[in-house]
Amino acid sequence: MSKMDEQIKLLEWKDLGDERGNLVVVEGNTDVPFEIRRIFYIYGSDSTVVRGQHANIRSEFVLINVCGTSKVRVDNGEESRVIELNRPRMGLYLKNNVWKDMYDFSPDSILLVLSSEHYDDAEYIRDYQEYLKYIGKTER
Ligand code: TYD
Repeated sequence: MSKMDEQIKLLEWKDLGDERGNLVVVEGNTDVPFEIRRIFYIYGSDSTVVRGQHANIRSEFVLINVCGTSKVRVDNGEESRVIELNRPRMGLYLKNNVWKDMYDFSPDSILLVLSSEHYDDAEYIRDYQEYLKYIGKTER
């Protein structure tokens, strides 16, 4: 098992829907591995935009494309993976200290993000070289 396998997890929730439509429930500490302290959502980004481009010292996240699709590239200084978010029942869990880029947003993309922490600019690392240094992977 690589380090990345412990840092990211694909989650799939049940559909509690019936003939009236679909219903997906995400409860903190149950359906995601943290207490939810913040949600935000990103929409109106197009296929040319790259968002994220940071790592978080404390925050854990779950990303859900509740509508449309997008891609997430995760990088831990050793390995990089691309995950396509393309269904409302799918979540991508990201542990803290993982570098992430979100891109390739479909025109109808609504990317919902659940976080374990309130917003704190001081826990964002927005420079990749600084990130590598922080996790002890300085370039040689
Ligand atoms: P940014 O981190 O660039 O968003 P993304 O990760 O989606 O690329 O955030 C854009 C601006 O919004 C920036 O000035 C910080 C602010 N912001 C908050 O105030 N609270 C939040 O929870 C988030 C995610 C951003």
